[in-house]
Amino acid sequence: MSQPNYLITGAYGFIGAWVVKRLLDSGAIVNILDQSSDPQRLRLIMTDEEISRPRFIAGDITDGDLVARVVEDNGINRIIHLAGLQVPVCKANPRLGAMVNVIGTINVFEAAKNSGGRVKKISYASSAAVFGVPDGEKPVTEAAAGGMTTHYGAFKRCNEDNARVYYLDNGISSVGLRPLTVYGVGRDFGMTSDPTKAMKAAVVGRPFHIRFGGRTDFLYVADCADAFIKGAQSDIEGAQVFNLHGETVAIADVVSEIEKQLPESAGKITFSETPLTLPEELDDSAIAAIIGDVEHTPLSSGVKMTIDRFKLLNSEGRLSTTDLDQ
Ligand SMILES: NC(=O)c1ccc[n+]([C@@H]2O[C@H](COP(=O)([O-])OP(=O)(O)OC[C@H]3O[C@@H](n4cnc5c(N)ncnc54)[C@H](O)[C@@H]3O)[C@@H](O)[C@H]2O)c1
Repeated sequence: MSQPNYLITGAYGFIGAWVVKRLLDSGAIVNILDQSSDPQRLRLIMTDEEISRPRFIAGDITDGDLVARVVEDNGINRIIHLAGLQVPVCKANPRLGAMVNVIGTINVFEAAKNSGGRVKKISYASSAAVFGVPDGEKPVTEAAAGGMTTHYGAFKRCNEDNARVYYLDNGISSVGLRPLTVYGVGRDFGMTSDPTKAMKAAVVGRPFHIRFGGRTDFLYVADCADAFIKGAQSDIEGAQVFNLHGETVAIADVVSEIEKQLPESAGKITFSETPLTLPEELDDSAIAAIIGDVEHTPLSSGVKMTIDRFKLLNSEGRLSTTDLDQ
């Protein structure tokens, strides 16, 4: 069998940077497609030498010809598709959101379809936003999707359905993953980035208000990245869609954990009482049974690793805090 040759779309984003890091750590061949040409999130977790290793192609995922060319010219056989726009952008501009999140995903599947069977698997980012307001069932299984409250969630659900049809029509196998609140170094945008921003604020001694409360399914980014890699490596046939689960925690406990690590931040991190309109706990028994267990880094370790890295970056004068003002 030929050596895995990965294309990571959206690799300069938060989760993408960690996927690239974990793949490079394992010696894999990595190609990057991103609209942005700024590897600032990679710089937070990798050396310049590591960042220079993948082949980088600047381009827009909505350009189907470009995506097909990238897959062909580079002999890609596994794709991890993460390029996408988040909830606030899809809300402000649903048309753009659909172009990037839905048509962009179609372009990835079309490129796989036209690869003559060389692309063996697409692992792509769906989201827990495919679920609606919780109805009490806990933890929620994959089948509970629907009734979503955002265009973003509707686009992600549409991608899952398109993935199923690509398997029926063209035999393209895929794994769609549904994370909820992912945290760690590099998370700097969107409502659920607030807990990570609170960790950064605590490191630089600033107050911070987390805009939600209640309990959420909190997933450490390295575990999330590994799940996408496992999905791309899996030889399971079909259009699979799986929930991801980290640890279900109260935002109050996240704040306590930050204060435990950085006692000088006590009282400076506040949070809203309003929970997210999403389930607080996802059932991940399906992915564990079919693809294998996903790591569950405990809250205390994930917060510690994140704060330690922020501290190091801060001491080296490399910690941007512009996201704290948004
Ligand atoms: N972070 C989370 O908690 C979370 C939770 C659920 C799902 N997801 C999904 O996981 C994926 C990655 O999330 P993230 O947090 O890393 O997002 P991110 O916003 O940090 O990164 C997205 C990347 O996609 C790129 N991109 C955007 N539009 C593009 C386009 N038109 N063409 C090419 N590249 C483009 C951006 O430049 C960026 O590098 C997304 O699809 C997101 O919807 C994230």
